Amino acid sequence: MSAEEIIHKRRSIDPNLFTGEIVSDTIVERMLIAANCAPTHGVTEPWRFIVLTKDAIQAFSQQHAELYKSLTSEEQFAQNKYDKILNRANKCSHLIICAAKCGTKSNIPDHEEIAATCCAIENMLLIASENQVATFWSTGGMFYHPKMKEILGFDEQDKMVALLFIGKCAENVPIKARHSDWKTKVQWK
Ligand SMILES: Cc1cc2nc3c(=O)[nH]c(=O)nc-3n(C[C@H](O)[C@H](O)[C@H](O)COP(=O)(O)O)c2cc1C
Repeated sequence: MSAEEIIHKRRSIDPNLFTGEIVSDTIVERMLIAANCAPTHGVTEPWRFIVLTKDAIQAFSQQHAELYKSLTSEEQFAQNKYDKILNRANKCSHLIICAAKCGTKSNIPDHEEIAATCCAIENMLLIASENQVATFWSTGGMFYHPKMKEILGFDEQDKMVALLFIGKCAENVPIKARHSDWKTKVQWK
């Protein structure tokens, strides 16, 4: 497949549609190696990844759900939201927590470190897609809460970027049609 074909083929697959099949660590390593090839301003290479498997996925999901419970008032608390956070990764093979290390060089603004990290994540998504591995980029639940960074051991100035669900799905899984026209976002002068 050409790079162009892989880019067109990549789609988000809801983790509820994952089969529970395990993806080989070798493919996940190839995704991480590709991530490390992303462009950066000042060669800061700001992407940081925590790769979770098996029990570590369950432990993180539990921590995430408990964080939601502890930071939500009784009136606001929704059991279905708690359950969703707790069970979202049940059929995941790997869960990759992606963050951007910020503030290492005073001349590089945080948004550039986030931009570089997003480039790294897209590289991972493309290698996954090339290898028939399903991915889903999430920022839901308490992912952006400062306590999340603390739990995961990131510094205060770092930015959380993605919770990447990785798994396998059926070949004929339903995928939403793309409905936007690229020409509406482009001006040629
Ligand atoms: C920065 C970012 C954050 C996202 N966060 C969420 C999220 O919290 N929940 C969600 O359902 N999808 C999330 N997505 C995935 C989008 O829903 C998905 O990429 C979009 O629907 C386009 O579909 P496609 O990836 O198949 O082209 C996120 C994507 C990006 C780039």
